Amino acid sequence: MRVLEATELYRFYHAGDDEVVALRGVAIALDAGEFTALRGPSGSGKSTLVACLAGLDEPDGGVVSVLGERMTRRPEPERARLRARHFGMLMQSGNLFEHLTVRANIRLQMEISGHGRPGEIDDLVGSLGLDGLADVLPAHLSGGEAARAGLAVALAAKPQILLCDEPTAEVDAATEQLVIDRLVEVCRSGTAVLVVTHSLALAARADRTIDIRDGGIVHG
Ligand SMILES: Nc1ncnc2c1ncn2[C@@H]1O[C@H](COP(=O)(O)OP(=O)(O)O)[C@@H](O)[C@H]1O
Ligand SMILES: [Mg+2]
Repeated sequence: MRVLEATELYRFYHAGDDEVVALRGVAIALDAGEFTALRGPSGSGKSTLVACLAGLDEPDGGVVSVLGERMTRRPEPERARLRARHFGMLMQSGNLFEHLTVRANIRLQMEISGHGRPGEIDDLVGSLGLDGLADVLPAHLSGGEAARAGLAVALAAKPQILLCDEPTAEVDAATEQLVIDRLVEVCRSGTAVLVVTHSLALAARADRTIDIRDGGIVHG
């Protein structure tokens, strides 16, 4: 089942007279239960694409549809509603509220989405190798632990679409394997998973790999 579809996405940035074309006509579709790896050099538009797919950023051209509903050019409260209901997201930073413990961050996500139960939090945290860290503040976590806590938040509501921007950038090989196994498991349960990554180990487990260069998908 197609859960997300984007057609002809364009995104321009302007700094003075300079124009940066971050996305130039990107089309992408995600199916339930499919694991997609998105690769590309720094500055190629990966994070911009993820932000546009999640409705966090508004493309200058093109349309993003979520489960048949158009998200693009809708008022922010409507985009937020679609995001809360259907998406789990792990961005490169800023995934956790710093004044809330890991547990409170996860509980908040459950409340916003209307999915998941607080009784599941310890299992969820444990499945990501974060035993004993549910009740600490994000400031006490290492970079890799914070990324996994962010993933716990993203998974809390059992989303239909999971978007992760470099989830294993800061972790050691063993932890990377744990994160990859978890992502595959979530995907096999029916979630559409899109992961931005430079990791060969992660790309090797994906059902397909999409390459982006200078804001355009490269067909190889
Ligand atoms: N807020 C912004 N203002 C201006 N330029 C931006 C902004 N965000 C991204 N860009 C530019 O858009 C291009 C794509 O950036 P990004 O999507 O972050 O790439 P990636 O995630 O692949 O490293 C880069 O040239 C970047 O400098
Ligand atoms: Mg990026």
